[in-house]
Formats: sequence, C-alpha cells, structure tokens
Amino acid sequence: MNKPDMRSCLELIKPYVPGKPVEEVERELGLKDIIKMASNENPLGPSQFAVKAMQEHIEKMHIYPDGNCFYLRQALAAKLKIAPDQLIFGNGSDEVLTFITLAYINPGDEAVMVAPSFSEYDFATRLVGGVPRFVPLTGDNYSYDLEAVLRAVNKKTRLVFICSPNNPTGTIVRKKDMDLFIERLPENVLLILDQAYLEYVNDPEHPSGLDYIEKGHPVIALRTFSKIYGLAGLRIGYGIAPAEIISDLNRVREPFNVNAMAQAAAIAALEDSEHLDNSRNLVNKARKQLTEGLAELGLKPVPDQANFCFVDSKVDSKQAFQALLKRGVIVRTGDIFGLPTFIRVTYGTAEQNSRFLTALKEVIAEIK
Ligand SMILES: Cc1ncc(COP(=O)(O)O)c(C=O)c1O
Repeated sequence: MNKPDMRSCLELIKPYVPGKPVEEVERELGLKDIIKMASNENPLGPSQFAVKAMQEHIEKMHIYPDGNCFYLRQALAAKLKIAPDQLIFGNGSDEVLTFITLAYINPGDEAVMVAPSFSEYDFATRLVGGVPRFVPLTGDNYSYDLEAVLRAVNKKTRLVFICSPNNPTGTIVRKKDMDLFIERLPENVLLILDQAYLEYVNDPEHPSGLDYIEKGHPVIALRTFSKIYGLAGLRIGYGIAPAEIISDLNRVREPFNVNAMAQAAAIAALEDSEHLDNSRNLVNKARKQLTEGLAELGLKPVPDQANFCFVDSKVDSKQAFQALLKRGVIVRTGDIFGLPTFIRVTYGTAEQNSRFLTALKEVIAEIK
C-alpha cells in the first residue's frame, strides 16, 4: 500500500496494552462474575453526587462543553486555594502528559524518569521525538534514588517525571527529600509530580507539591478524577502549575478536550467527602487483608501508599495471569514493568480480595 512514511520516532513506541475489560474476558471465557483488579480503579464506583449530576446533564449533550471548564476551575481553585489560571484540565491526566511533551520537548531533547514507573511518560516523550532516560528504583522496596535522578539530568534534559506514589510500586518520595531535590534541579528543567494516587497517601511526610508551585518553581502536579473519585470512564484529570506554564500548555490543547459530562461529575464529586473517606478506608482495610493473606503464601508486597499492591509472586506472572483469569480474576503482570515474576493487584472489596487470595494460592500451587 502506498502511504507516507510514519515519523521515525514512532518506531520505538509500542502501543499501550490496557487491562482487559471485564466484558471481553466474560465473552472469551464464558465466565460470569469476573473481577478486574488490574487498572487501579475504585471498587466503590463513583460518588452518588457525581451520578446525580450526570443524570441531570444527560439532556444537554447536544451542547459543546465549556472549553475553559469554568465552574470546575472555580470549584477546584477554591478547594486548593490557588488561582484559577494555575489549572489545566485534560481528557484524563494522560492528556496533560502529552500537552507537556508537546509544549516542551523538541526532537532529541531528554526526559528523565524512573523504572519501573508509569509507561505514559515514556510514550509521551517518544511521541514528539524526545529521548527517555531511565533511572532504576533501588532496593527491595523500590525506593527513589534522587541522587541518581540528578546525575541523569544533563544539558539536553527538559523534563523530569516523579510519580509519587509510584505506579506500579506504590512507593513515595518524602517532602524533605523532594525539597532538597528541587533546590538542586536546574531551573530550566520542568519537574512533573504525578500525584494520581495522592488521596490514598497516609504518610504525613508526603509533599502536596503546591508549595513548590506557589514559590514559582517550574513544577507541575498532575492529579486525576480516575482513581479515588471513581470517574475513570469519563476521562478527566488536571495539572496544577505556575500560570506561565499553564499558558504554554494551553497552546497545544484542543478547544473542547474535556467533555461536559466529565465536568459536571467532577464538580459534584469534589463535594462528596464521605465517598473519599469510604474509598480511603476500603484501601486501608484491603492493604491489611492482602498483606496478611499474602504472608500466608510466603509473599511480601512492596510497602505501598496507593490503591494497589505490587508483589513478587515468585512464579512467572504471565502464567499466573492466565491461571487467575480462568478463575475470574484480572490482574496486571510485572513483565510490562521488566519484573516478570511480579503482579500488581488493585485493592478491592473484602470479598474481591479474598477471591483473589484463594485463586492465587491455587495458581501458585498449579504452576510450581
Ligand atoms: C501514575 C499514573 N498517572 C496517571 C494516570 C492516568 O490517569 P488518567 O486516567 O487521569 O489519565 C494513571 C493511571 O493509571 C497512573 O497510574
């Protein structure tokens, strides 16, 4: 077939393989009651405030959304005590990541990120011809080595990605370490603090990131309505940064990038502190349940501050995935993160967690 040559930088991009949708697995295996513990979604679902707001908005779907997200912007700015022009909204925080690389990476520029971490940093960097530089996490607990991150920064570096809590390890960077790191990072490098799981953090030493932005550091904090707010299907996330950075990012944003339903639901969800508390409680209980259950199988998860658990299953995780799937449980395999015996499992309800534990016990016995 005759067609133009694809841009050469895309040759290094592997299309993202998402966690399998429940319906697809049910269809393929002829099973019912499949549980998906693969994409770090909220098993409680969305806030009922958000559900009601969506129902109220359904008749207005012939109207384009507010491209500026005015009401959501006001509500969030008031909640975070920041200026409205310090916010940018995206079709998921994924989209904000692509705004960042589109705005700041020229072909050949570098972006520093840790490994293993969220694959979208690599994707967004390569998409525009940038070069990712990976810095491994260290030790059994997969901790950040910020000294090594600093060493990886050079004259070509435009961006540094820090994901805290980190996906897939659940590990965090503490405020005192982040403070020192930011002081030493060259001023022309933008630091992206990905805080998709921030609302699950229990550690009081975790930075909010907002004080760096207030002081005018080139920092953008990324947050999302997909995780604790339970609105992943609507695709809405946001970035918080000094207004000059937001202004750069707005140049590459499509005019109607955030749909109207998502805006309505997000505004309502912000009001529902009870849903947030319940979601946090669920995760804290689930962490205990899984830690104890896995210990009985001789397994020790990486200590996490997120809504998922990352554990060395000590068997091939692709085999474990298939065997768990047959038992109706979908998890994420570690091979995509370069750790072929690890699995990442999203904390679920007590019943889901015990189904996972029972299935895993059988699976490990079967594979060994
Ligand atoms: C660390 C991290 N950042 C960002 C995202 C993307 O979130 P969103 O649904 O807002 O695009 C995810 C989703 O899994 C994530 O794990």
